[in-house]
Amino acid sequence: MTKATDLAALRDEIIAKNITPELAKQAQNLVMGDGSLDAQIVFIGEAPGKNEDIQGLPFVGAAGKFLNEMLASVGLSRDDVYVTNIVKYRPPNNRDPLPDEKAAFWPYLARQINIIQPKIIITLGRHGMEYFLPDFKISDVHGQPKRVIFGDGKIVILPLFHPAAALYNGGLRQTLIDDFLKVPQVLEQIK
Ligand code: URA
Repeated sequence: MTKATDLAALRDEIIAKNITPELAKQAQNLVMGDGSLDAQIVFIGEAPGKNEDIQGLPFVGAAGKFLNEMLASVGLSRDDVYVTNIVKYRPPNNRDPLPDEKAAFWPYLARQINIIQPKIIITLGRHGMEYFLPDFKISDVHGQPKRVIFGDGKIVILPLFHPAAALYNGGLRQTLIDDFLKVPQVLEQIK
């Protein structure tokens, strides 16, 4: 089995088990993820928005454009990383994902990460962060890498603010840009 076939099987299982049927019913696409299956960095956002639902790809709207700009600021592109979300169907009217929706998708996200085997997980926003760093608030720990136990080993979590939130808040935007500049340093440390 290759990573691609493992991920395809995971996708089929989410559909066959009808995970979050209410979300699935009104979504156009299951948005699994996109990027390099051998990435050292996996980004985890919240849930697909309108553009992501239409295209079946994560972070392709305004927040995605901002993410791409920040990747470029540290010499990376979307082809170097893998991007996904905790919840894989668009919530109606872009509302926040509900606790039971996040809980339903968490085992699949954990398996997805185990398939890709990244060294670093960068969480974007509090929804992506909460299963990895349940005892922390994003306002306290953004930009601070944390080593946590995950699966059979340890992994580094770098919690960042969500680019969509930062787009409409100047202070948050600069904080996110500054936090993002720490990515090369964190990559260097795990070598
Ligand atoms: N916001 C997210 O959290 N995920 C996406 O895929 C797009 C916007």
